[in-house]
Amino acid sequence: MTAILHPEALAMNAHLHPFTDPRTAEATPPREIVSGDGIRVTDSEGNVFIDAVAGLWCASLGFAPERLARAATAQMEKLAYYHSFKGRTTDVTARLSEVLSARLPGALEHLAYGTGGSDAVELAVKLARYAQAARGHEGRVRIIARTGAYHGSGSMSAALTGLQYVHDGWHLPQPDVIRVGRPHWVDEARPGESERAFADRLVAELEETILAEGPETIAAMIGEPVQGAGGVLIPPEGYWAGVQEVLKRHGILLIADEVITGFGRTGRWFGCETYGIEPDFMTLAKQLTGAVFPLSAVAMTGAVREDIADRAHGFGLLGHGLTYGGHPVGAAVALETLAIYEEMGLEARVAELGERLAAGLAPLRQHPHVREVRHVGFVAAVQFDTPETGAEVAARAEARGVFFRHIGTTLAVCPPYVATPEDVDEICAVMVAAAG
Ligand SMILES: Cc1ncc(COP(=O)(O)O)c(C=O)c1O
Repeated sequence: MTAILHPEALAMNAHLHPFTDPRTAEATPPREIVSGDGIRVTDSEGNVFIDAVAGLWCASLGFAPERLARAATAQMEKLAYYHSFKGRTTDVTARLSEVLSARLPGALEHLAYGTGGSDAVELAVKLARYAQAARGHEGRVRIIARTGAYHGSGSMSAALTGLQYVHDGWHLPQPDVIRVGRPHWVDEARPGESERAFADRLVAELEETILAEGPETIAAMIGEPVQGAGGVLIPPEGYWAGVQEVLKRHGILLIADEVITGFGRTGRWFGCETYGIEPDFMTLAKQLTGAVFPLSAVAMTGAVREDIADRAHGFGLLGHGLTYGGHPVGAAVALETLAIYEEMGLEARVAELGERLAAGLAPLRQHPHVREVRHVGFVAAVQFDTPETGAEVAARAEARGVFFRHIGTTLAVCPPYVATPEDVDEICAVMVAAAG
């Protein structure tokens, strides 16, 4: 085959970029980021930007964290690769399991590893079905997911995602996905409906859907404690308590997708602690390694682990594994990341930075084109009245040297934890100035 593009154009377009219009990329090449320093990145033309979303809500310790580089290097020099299949593992993966297990909330205590959030979601779904079958419920295979959810770009994980642009053209969503409403009060509440009444209605609708679809066909529900890529949707009071009560009553397992919320983002170590969620499974990635190495985990309770172990024993093994799952370099980086979180006093630091962020964005509540300013922990969103306003504000902020994540009408803010209070003030000042 001969290349259909001119060699120069081919060089520019050799990479098919994710979540990008390829035709736009041909005309406007993506900005190349060449270096990082704390919360700042520099592009190939020497422009410096604050990345106020920590990349993809993940680079919690900044864009060139020295200690993580040293941890990775030391592990690479000692044992750069080994796996955890068939009677082997690595010392550092075993150590991470011990340390992370001790940090997990509630009844979560066992871990299975992958390489990213999408594969963690795929595995959590497989394990939920496996555990249901082990309990004699072979017919429980379907999964409840919400509109506005982002659960990844795999096959099932993309199907569970409740965003149209992730489904278009891919033969998704799958029939095994049952869709329910998202807890987005400003956009979805009925006129005059209080936040509490809205939460109660969503919970009642969830139960109606379960009864209509047949509880005996449903393995699990998946949900992000706070929906991230769907616009930083903070659930109203009573929502998660109501959801959990309904799921328990119908024998449906709960997967908390903490790929963004895990490791401090909502104020507690885990979003489940912030909202009193007691899941059967939890997916973790991103801030597990400060995004410096691709590593993910599915945490599970002792109870489901026992069911899974029994069933796998019946087959002779757990028929699942990824070459790089629980990679020793990732495990070493994760251990160092967790040590840094402990040393910084993660929850206190998030509280301090989060309050500063909330105070800095508060003036926007009076802005004529702002519908809502919301925050929890150290993540926030400013929702404008139209997507066009959102896009314009994001572009003006970028011109002023700050990247926000533009999601329809909303601009998301999710800075690295290594931001100083002054950095947070600068981020807020740019948002306010860009809003005009
Ligand atoms: C809540 C959630 N789950 C899953 C994923 C998918 O993770 P990854 O991109 O590492 O596959 C993401 C990514 O943003 C996410 O936000």
